Amino acid sequence: MNDLAVGPFDDLPLRDRRRPPAPQPPRRKLGWLAAYRGMRTNPITTWGERVYQESIIADRGLMGPVVIVNRPDAIRHVFLDNAQNYPKDALQLAKLGPALGRGLLTSERDEWRLQRRTVAPLFQPSSVAAYFPVMVEAVAALLARWETAAAAGTVLDAAREMTALTYDIISRTVFSSEIETGADAMSAAITTFFDTHGRINLWDLIKLPEWLPHPASWRVRPATRVFRREVQRLLERRRARQAAGEPVPNDLVTLLAAARDPETGAALSEETIHDSLVTFIAAGHETTANALGWTLFLLSEYPWAFDRMAQEVDAVLAGRMPTIDDLGRLNVVRMTLEEAMRLYPPVPFLSREAAGPDRIDGIEIAPGTLIIVAPWLVHRHRLLWQEPDLFEPERFAPERRSKISRFAYLPFGLGSRVCIGAGFAMQEALVALAMIVQRFRPLLLPGAYVQPVARITLRPVRGLPMRMERRR
Ligand code: HEM
Repeated sequence: MNDLAVGPFDDLPLRDRRRPPAPQPPRRKLGWLAAYRGMRTNPITTWGERVYQESIIADRGLMGPVVIVNRPDAIRHVFLDNAQNYPKDALQLAKLGPALGRGLLTSERDEWRLQRRTVAPLFQPSSVAAYFPVMVEAVAALLARWETAAAAGTVLDAAREMTALTYDIISRTVFSSEIETGADAMSAAITTFFDTHGRINLWDLIKLPEWLPHPASWRVRPATRVFRREVQRLLERRRARQAAGEPVPNDLVTLLAAARDPETGAALSEETIHDSLVTFIAAGHETTANALGWTLFLLSEYPWAFDRMAQEVDAVLAGRMPTIDDLGRLNVVRMTLEEAMRLYPPVPFLSREAAGPDRIDGIEIAPGTLIIVAPWLVHRHRLLWQEPDLFEPERFAPERRSKISRFAYLPFGLGSRVCIGAGFAMQEALVALAMIVQRFRPLLLPGAYVQPVARITLRPVRGLPMRMERRR
């Protein structure tokens, strides 16, 4: 077990230590129909208590053999030691493919390697540090809008606000402010995508050929059109500027268009460049928005956590704007964010498929087996965490943080396919939280219904209706 004893919050009144919302595991194993319905609407509702207690679970699921891996050393086996036997699975590719094609998240082998190597310079620590002032500007613009909303007592959807913020940040940084589609239109397209292709359907279960028309593939089209049009526009404008001999920024668009295979000298195909740009627009903001939204929710639910964070922010920033050097001193902000991502991991499941036979934890793995490593389960596993369903930022206090296995806490995944934007996301989330807490107290509307729903990411099912109360 990780060293996660409860610590200084032990003496809090019980009502304050209550469990933040999460679906109760069903008491009995679900029948096929109920399991299908649950998988379609919210897969995290289908796992019984046993799945949170065992280290590895082999099942013949609705979609064939499935092995859920919870044990840290077995997770290490899948993602590091024998990673070449576990490429991305057909189901994940079928779900994400219609929008993300063979971009960085969904490609394999040489195609993936070239893209990863090409964009890596934009995510190395010095580049991420250089985005800092732009991140501060974007948060300041959001907070200026909130001033008006706070004065008028307007209720905001904090989930939507965080999406608009992270979209603004990804656009201002790696896309050099050239994205034209508004945050609401992009967010609506992503929601449509999650609500159609992001859900398990009969086609996935009975493996009907993809060319056979099905409702999701019709309904997703307007959404994929939004992604494609935006990327088309970005590329056309950039190429026109290059043709006219105008200077162009050294951003994602330029790097992908200029990428060459070191051995063959071949460029990335037009299709791959498109797919990678769409991937970065979507993956580059949706997940961080969820991490921030859930953190604001927890701060509203647990006033002691807010007060502690506000005290730290006030002491470190002393009323001024943050600098990059402040980030390392914002410990409580980091601890709270990390605990929010433990309880509500923005990417709730990772999946892979066994290419060849293997053995994990004594279980025979046949080729084609779907392997699930779910941060949602691992982060709430009864043997890995003490009182796993409780909100306890103290678990991530510096002296305990180093004892948490990186195979037991994996919001950003791990191994060679680890999130390329992890450092970027942590920096923007810390800046945003510090600046928000410096000026506002987020207050969830009394009686608001909040529950996590897992499609491809983990969102609050009906958003987060909040008032932002001005602190001073
Ligand atoms: C809190 C925020 C974020 C979380 C929790 C998160 C989580 C993840 C996870 C779990 C993976 C691995 C998926 C797998 O192994 O199947 C991943 C991959 C990826 N993420 Fe993130 N992400 C976040 C922010 C970002 C940002 C800000 C960007 C871009 C600016 C980004 C871009 C990507 C890309 C391109 C990949 C694919 C990497 C590859 O396969 O080589 N993510 N992310």
